[in-house]
Amino acid sequence: MTGSAHAIEFSGAAFAYRERDVLCDVHLVVREGEFVGVLGPNGSGKTTLVRGATRVVTPRAGVVRVHGIDVGTIARRDLARQIAVVPQEGVPIFPYTVLETVLMGRAPWLGSFAFEGDDDVARARDALAAVDATHLEDRDLSELSGGERQRVVVARALAQNTRIVLADEPTAHLDLRHAVSMFQLFRRLRDERGLAVMLVTHDLNLAARHCDRVVLLAEGTIRADGAPRDVLTAPLLERTFGTRIEVRLRDDGTPFVVAAG
Ligand SMILES: Nc1ncnc2c1ncn2[C@@H]1O[C@H](COP(=O)(O)OP(=O)(O)O)[C@@H](O)[C@H]1O
Ligand SMILES: [Mg+2]
Repeated sequence: MTGSAHAIEFSGAAFAYRERDVLCDVHLVVREGEFVGVLGPNGSGKTTLVRGATRVVTPRAGVVRVHGIDVGTIARRDLARQIAVVPQEGVPIFPYTVLETVLMGRAPWLGSFAFEGDDDVARARDALAAVDATHLEDRDLSELSGGERQRVVVARALAQNTRIVLADEPTAHLDLRHAVSMFQLFRRLRDERGLAVMLVTHDLNLAARHCDRVVLLAEGTIRADGAPRDVLTAPLLERTFGTRIEVRLRDDGTPFVVAAG
């Protein structure tokens, strides 16, 4: 790791699937201790951005750096010690218990063929507590509701104990209380541990309230990147999402977005 405070940096990055260009000319930095929200319509490339940071997709142009190093040159296991991902599609439903699933997050830190020790179990339990899922520990993954499973996937990422967390729509299945707690949790991780968090979401109001910066993807690139009150404006959102939108300001100046169509 270099001394760079840039946890993730996209520098002129372009991504494509076969001939199909999805994102070009992406310049984006997520620093240590920063909580960045990624917003944009369906199909705008949010998940592709997450995949690009973890080299699931390779940039067709430009470069992606993790802690200053070209991600393409980082060994898989080293990368897994630096970045944890909460994938949009969750985890495959195997006949594992919740605790076993969260323990999988410890894999990058175990020796080959080594089993988890007490410390790993303790970390997995702490992660479950952080997402309000302690009571689910012994349940089978297949027996959980969508929202319960989503919190378990976040716990697995936390148990990985990385400096960077990428979460792809981690609140999509959550009720209001759990959605709010999820944003509060990521904020706490930023404040207490200085983590870099990049979170994809359609919860514009939670992003407005909790993220340091928001990035708006549209038409194959970053259309805006800045403080929530600068990015979440009615004209820009209407143009991007193609529907009528009203933006109000709360007492503290935080924008509040309502679809008015
Ligand atoms: N594996 C893939 N092969 C081909 N096209 C893909 C693949 N994954 C995503 N796409 C396309 O790339 C575009 C961006 O997808 P994605 O990054 O998943 O968008 P978002 O997460 O913003 O909804 C979409 O048009 C999608 O259909
Ligand atoms: Mg997506």
